[in-house]
Amino acid sequence: MRVENPKIVAALPELGVQLKPDTSLAELTSLGIGGATDLLRITKHDAIPDLLNLLDAQGLPHKFLGGGSNLLVGDGELPWVVLQLVSPEPDIVLEGHFAQVDAAADLGRTVTFCAKNDLGGMEGLIGVPGTVGGALRMNAGAYGMQIGSYVRQVKLYRAAARKLETLEGDQISFEYRHTSFAPDDMMLAVKLELPSKPYREILKGIRICNEKRRASQPLGQKSAGCIFKNPPGASAGRMIDELGLKSLSVGDARVSDRHANFFVNAGKASAKDMLALIADVRERVQESFGVILEYEVVVWNG
Ligand code: EPU
Repeated sequence: MRVENPKIVAALPELGVQLKPDTSLAELTSLGIGGATDLLRITKHDAIPDLLNLLDAQGLPHKFLGGGSNLLVGDGELPWVVLQLVSPEPDIVLEGHFAQVDAAADLGRTVTFCAKNDLGGMEGLIGVPGTVGGALRMNAGAYGMQIGSYVRQVKLYRAAARKLETLEGDQISFEYRHTSFAPDDMMLAVKLELPSKPYREILKGIRICNEKRRASQPLGQKSAGCIFKNPPGASAGRMIDELGLKSLSVGDARVSDRHANFFVNAGKASAKDMLALIADVRERVQESFGVILEYEVVVWNG
């Protein structure tokens, strides 16, 4: 979708928004899949309500993009514009046990920055690609921890109220890969409270998690992490593996031979290929195990 209306184009600089026309989402997602649209890069949080009012008034639908690491985007010309936050300098500010982090901050860099300042707890998230905002919205977790445990306050754009709000940690519910945020809410910043730990000790934990991840996940390949959530008490990866589906492919979309819940783009996979592979695997798991797997990956298709 194109922002062609001269009224909108002229208003963008004042709102602190940079327009990047005809941007390929394949280049902004870890799967390397997705068509093109206009990208609006936001530098001022306070201008977001005005920007969205302007887009809505002109009938321009939008989607919010974080780090693009848990996302499968459709092919061809996309029917919405994409909004993305530009990270301010600095994007992490520490005060005692608290870290005030911009939603656009890189998650891995946040974990290591806090670690270097003797703040731990998030070791499990090392190696998870994406932004802090993305991790927050889906309550990212690994190796027994989840980011939600450390959240004390969140600044966000509330789509239903059409304004910026600040929520306290106890006003938000964090469950397995799920939060009480609405799908069209936009994470802006988060205050984390992290336990004190000596850097050396945190580093040990980080190394262990890194090794486990390297041993079991296809890190060098284009993927969106796990495609399906684990059903209660079971492992989607193990079920897919038990069915012998590693390396099953549709075009260049392939079930990883290293971890069966990772589907990789082994070349020039299209969204159509990837969605067909996902549907096929899901059906086979349902037939054999009677379990309907839920998507973990977010799909923007149409
Ligand atoms: N397994 C297999 N074959 C496979 C993959 C896994 O037999 O192809 C077995 C493993 O041997 C293990 C069990 O299944 O006994 C669980 O596997 P693993 O430890 O790799 O964890 P997972 O449940 O598949 C979850 C998260 C990952 C996270 C890891 C580590 C989900 C959907 N996945 O994977 O998160 O990194 O634990 O904590 O919750 C993600 O969210 O994108 C993601 C990758």
